[in-house]
Amino acid sequence: MNVLVIGSGGREYSIGMALKKDENVDKLYFAPGNGATDELGENLSISDFSELADFCEENSVDLTIVGPEAPLVDGIVDLFEERGLTIFGPSAQAAQLEGSKIFMKNFLARHNVPTAKYIETDSLEDAYKFIMTLEAPIVVKADGLCGGKGVIIAQSHDEAKKAAGEMLSGNSFGDAGTSIVVEEFLDGYELSVFAICDGEDYVVLPAAQDHKRLLNNDQGPNTGGMGAYAPTPLVNDEIYRKLDERVIVPTLEGMKAEGMPFKGVLFIGVMVVNGEPIILEYNVRFGDPECEELMPLLKSPASELFYKAATGDLKNATIEFHDKYAVGVVMASKDYPYKNSAPAEIIVDEIVHDEIFKEHAHISYAGVSREEDGKLYATGGRVLVCVGLGDTIAEAQQRAYMLVGQVHYAGKQCRTDIAYQALNE
Ligand code: AMP
Ligand code: GLY
Repeated sequence: MNVLVIGSGGREYSIGMALKKDENVDKLYFAPGNGATDELGENLSISDFSELADFCEENSVDLTIVGPEAPLVDGIVDLFEERGLTIFGPSAQAAQLEGSKIFMKNFLARHNVPTAKYIETDSLEDAYKFIMTLEAPIVVKADGLCGGKGVIIAQSHDEAKKAAGEMLSGNSFGDAGTSIVVEEFLDGYELSVFAICDGEDYVVLPAAQDHKRLLNNDQGPNTGGMGAYAPTPLVNDEIYRKLDERVIVPTLEGMKAEGMPFKGVLFIGVMVVNGEPIILEYNVRFGDPECEELMPLLKSPASELFYKAATGDLKNATIEFHDKYAVGVVMASKDYPYKNSAPAEIIVDEIVHDEIFKEHAHISYAGVSREEDGKLYATGGRVLVCVGLGDTIAEAQQRAYMLVGQVHYAGKQCRTDIAYQALNE
């Protein structure tokens, strides 16, 4: 089959890698892709949804997989389906689970899914009143999509009030902050759980753990994610069971009952507090960098998983995973996440004399461009992810960091402790 992947990050590169090694896949396209996806398939410079649908019709594309949330929220799935095209992702209506924190919070309340105590409001006075009922730290969030940066964890009541004021006045996040959510701080460990859904049935992927903060030991500012690993031993059968019963089933049943059956990846951001999974948020797409570790763990053909989910046929799929661990270390540019850095040439040393390492480590490229000289340059905030696979987390981590040592560009930065929570267990 011919497959189109929408997006340009390391997430889409890793989906592309999984499709590339799948015998059922003939042609692979990316829109827009990045400077390295052109090694896996063909990059298209089309962004208009109707023109993408035209391309799919004209080039017999059998399946489109949407990576990022923005096209989902903007209705790409609705448009493709109206035109009879097969596409993996939720409708615009269902994508509100990520697109609007207020929609998500109200949905969780309607369906009794455990989440932090909160209010949504556009009134500064109400926000102040609620802030005074909580103990610090206090979480203040803008309602709309702000690329993961719309969350402030205030260390005092005054700081929380200031954040609420700035968001509501439109100073910090523009229109995304005209309504806010104020919520209690959850103190526990964070997980990323993904369910691939077809509207009726679902498959839960091995649970992953991301590292959101820039610096070792979870210090420094929040980022899009500096590394992840899966499966995490922090999840036992009991937690999987609670997630299933209290979160996934009520969510999917609720979406169906409300007339917007969920199809695509449901990304459940979970905080485990004293053994109880509590929902931080939903996203309607794969996590990045979690996807870069989950794709190589997939044993079944990637096209089968995505096609069957897109066509409501997951009950006829047996999805298997390798009995291995994956650790992914994000290498970012010099000034990430504060500002863009000057383009820097990337040089990767060839791996020689070690076939096992070669087979168990690879790079997923993200913020890169290929210049006219044919070379790859680091151009984005998060440049690439070094992924190691192993029979233990320690082995996978060691391979990921060996690969980090092979990669060179000016100003490279990465955390050196990815997967530490699992290794300290
Ligand atoms: P969100 O955009 O809602 O995912 O929030 C981004 C990050 O902020 C999360 O991944 C958490 O690390 C942190 N966070 C959000 N809400 C809370 C909360 N209620 N308690 C503790 N940490 C939170
Ligand atoms: N890694 C977290 C995210 O993609 O939102």
